[in-house]
Amino acid sequence: MKKRGSVLEWTGLFHVSPADIADIVGGFHSEMKRGLAGEPSSLKMLPSFVAKPRGSETGRYLALDLGGTNLRILAVELEGEGRFRIPAVDKVVVPGERMRGKGEDLFDFLAECILAFAGKGGEGNREDLRLAFTFSFPTEQTRVDAGRLLVWTKGFTATGVEGEDVVDLLTRSLRRKGAGFVRIVALVNDTVGTLAAKAYTDRTCDMGVILGTGTNACYVEETARITKRRGLGAGGEMIVNLEWGNFALLRRTPFDADLDRDSPNPGSQLLEKMVSGLYLGELARRVIRALMNEGLLFDGSSRDLFTTPYAFGTEHLSAIASDDFGVLARFGIGNLMENDRILLTEICRAIVRRSARIAGAAVAAVAAWMDPELKRNHTVGIDGTLFECYPGYPAHIRGALADALGPRADRVRLEPAKDGSGIGAAVIAAVVGAQ
Ligand code: GLC
Repeated sequence: MKKRGSVLEWTGLFHVSPADIADIVGGFHSEMKRGLAGEPSSLKMLPSFVAKPRGSETGRYLALDLGGTNLRILAVELEGEGRFRIPAVDKVVVPGERMRGKGEDLFDFLAECILAFAGKGGEGNREDLRLAFTFSFPTEQTRVDAGRLLVWTKGFTATGVEGEDVVDLLTRSLRRKGAGFVRIVALVNDTVGTLAAKAYTDRTCDMGVILGTGTNACYVEETARITKRRGLGAGGEMIVNLEWGNFALLRRTPFDADLDRDSPNPGSQLLEKMVSGLYLGELARRVIRALMNEGLLFDGSSRDLFTTPYAFGTEHLSAIASDDFGVLARFGIGNLMENDRILLTEICRAIVRRSARIAGAAVAAVAAWMDPELKRNHTVGIDGTLFECYPGYPAHIRGALADALGPRADRVRLEPAKDGSGIGAAVIAAVVGAQ
């Protein structure tokens, strides 16, 4: 009995009630308003300097997609009428020392990868290659093809990049490496790319969401409401990157506070640390450690296990939540008692359910911001492994949408947009070409 009571006590910490969801929606609306007005806000509300695509855009582009440990390079051919082809694609792992070393080395590495791709015939015309650069970090843009990195997220710490124009940095590296024939024509956040890729084929798409290593969203805003920037043109629309990973008005547990304190960017990206794939396993590891210390798990034995930060990943979490305990062998745990299994499963499920419900509340907030009475249909293009791979994740988001919006939640459609960010960056480049 004691243990059963404990399960509820521990999982209850991660419960997101309908009242919590209403608070998140309210908090989003006040922070969005402040962010758009240029007042202090945990939501940066970054203008992208580009409108939603029409679907008729055409052209051939190179797309470089940097957002996490994987770098993707694609040749994209937009054929118009919402059709496109990807004649070639490369995926490269970004070495840890480039992510966390000197910025110049990181950008030189990107340039080398582009050169290698172009050399393999990934692209045709070497005289003038147009590159759309998906850079999935908070970037303050002044034009569609220029932007300063505000602050690194997701564990990147390369020096000399924060505060700099990343298009300039990449252009310099390209020249240094003898690839001056590559011209960067668009700088795009991955959320914006995801929205653009989906909207290229679906006119009702007005939101792009990433639920993967990091989490974030963008949406289509009326330029008149972006009051912090004058001269964006009256009566028009522009995609705005919320950088919602940094949203801070959330009820946190002591585990969230400790994870944040020990992270490379304490005090920042608080929503991301409760929601995204980079952190969920680590959060579970910390709860498991606490349960072990309380003598509630593994009968108080195996005290040295689960000591390495970030060794327990989201893939382990997914396996356990699906009752697959084989993954624990790596942590030296073979036979589990029934009670241990129940507790572990419930904790992992509770952490992921909380992630999805917070994400759902955030989606609801943005949809209601665009269309308070939900008179129109809104398609949300979503990419990222959490959404795609974690069992039951989309259903939990829908549950939160229903809590926030009631029956009108049906107006908000969640649509997978796999690997949309690179294709979408090419679409954005074409929108700009057509502007
Ligand atoms: C982080 C970045 C953001 C990106 C998101 C998803 O939150 O700051 O720009 O969109 O991760 O990759």
